[in-house]
Amino acid sequence: MFIAWLNKLDGKDWPEELMKYLVDAEKRDHEHIPHALTLYQSILDLNAQIVVEIGTKEGKSAKIIVEALKRTGGHLYSVDKCEYKPVDSPFITYVTSDFVKFNIDNPIDVLFDDGSHDYEEVRKALDNFWSSINTPGLYIVADVDSHILAKEAVTDWAEEKNMGFLFDFRGQGAAYFFKPSYPNRYRGVIDSHQMYKWIPREKDDH
Ligand SMILES: C[S@@+](CC[C@H](N)C(=O)[O-])C[C@H]1O[C@@H](n2cnc3c(N)ncnc32)[C@H](O)[C@@H]1O
Repeated sequence: MFIAWLNKLDGKDWPEELMKYLVDAEKRDHEHIPHALTLYQSILDLNAQIVVEIGTKEGKSAKIIVEALKRTGGHLYSVDKCEYKPVDSPFITYVTSDFVKFNIDNPIDVLFDDGSHDYEEVRKALDNFWSSINTPGLYIVADVDSHILAKEAVTDWAEEKNMGFLFDFRGQGAAYFFKPSYPNRYRGVIDSHQMYKWIPREKDDH
């Protein structure tokens, strides 16, 4: 599955309808488009039933997630400490709360952390939700290249847990933690893409 996912990272098979929406919705913000497409495709590939996002705000990412969930029949829990309800959809439940107080019984197929990008918050979210990620599942931390503290947080957390993650340098960057971890034999494929790196590159062995 992960190789298929990686092959799609360059976006050749995106639905016309989604592309039109993205180009229109993100016209002042084109650098987010590759990440939005990866988020969309990951939800489809995992046939995600439960998606959790931290940071609802304008609902830009929620709209993308909902487009994918319409196809998988899954549900988004969009958590924000401020009250936002930007998209009216039966596929979303809005949770107005700090993410630390949010619990869910079912395993999470995809978690998208687009919260404060603060060092402690990024780590706290990983601590809170990593054990609830399904196998297979994906944990994404957004904007890690533009937020140095978020980058340090994912790097430190991964090192402490002896885990690798995929660093995506496109746009504002993103970190992808896979469960199960990406097998070593495929890491060369990742590193052959100029815009992706597996971090840490040598230590991680699961
Ligand atoms: C970058 S914005 C999210 C943008 C949104 N994903 C979009 O596409 O429009 C970050 C959001 O995270 C929320 N946030 C920050 N810290 C949080 C926390 N500890 N718990 C829940 N939400 C938090 C903020 O209130 C803010 O609305």
